[in-house]
Amino acid sequence: MARASVIAILFFAVCISSSLSLGYGAAKPRKFIIEGRVYCDTCRVEFETKLSESISGAVVKLECRNRTNGSYTYRSQDMTDGNGNYKIEVEGDYGDSDCDVALVKSPRPDCNDPTQEWRKARVVLTALDGISGDLRFANNLGFKKKVALPGCKQVLTEMGYFEVKHELEDEATNP
Ligand SMILES: *[C@@H]1O[C@H](CO)[C@@H](O)[C@H](O)[C@H]1NC(C)=O
Ligand SMILES: *[C@@H]1O[C@H](CO)[C@@H](O)[C@H](O)[C@H]1NC(C)=O
Repeated sequence: MARASVIAILFFAVCISSSLSLGYGAAKPRKFIIEGRVYCDTCRVEFETKLSESISGAVVKLECRNRTNGSYTYRSQDMTDGNGNYKIEVEGDYGDSDCDVALVKSPRPDCNDPTQEWRKARVVLTALDGISGDLRFANNLGFKKKVALPGCKQVLTEMGYFEVKHELEDEATNP
């Protein structure tokens, strides 16, 4: 009898704690923090080099669109800090949406042309994708400088950029 009541009490306690944790999980809104950086592509090559510069005060926007009918499910804007970094907090789960961080505006008149490749970056804002934690890193976004820096040739040579470029051009002309 004593043993049966201990089991009953234990069972009851387990039920309560699991229903409490379920209730808590459902009531707590899901939150994501998206971090990324905006840089100036000072060599006009569509990727970061060691001469790329962080842009502070650049405006980026986060937009999520319903994948089925394209209507916006989330929109916000943010500005980069002194190191070119931004941090956007979003509440909710956007598993049914496509979410992108995109460049809006550069404060630098000499570097305000968005790169083709990195004008926007996809972020996945759902707990159902197997990524744990609230923090999501977006690929860095770049504006292109109007005139490349004089040091670019040297840096790009060190990176093997011209060799690869010539190979690709040769392949394109003599396939
Ligand atoms: C997205 O749009 C579809 C079609 O109208 C709708 O059924 C669905 O509920 C929408 N999802 C969200 C998250 O708004
Ligand atoms: C898309 O679906 C959502 C949710 O059903 C609805 O509120 C919205 O008006 C729809 N948008 C368009 C463009 O059909």
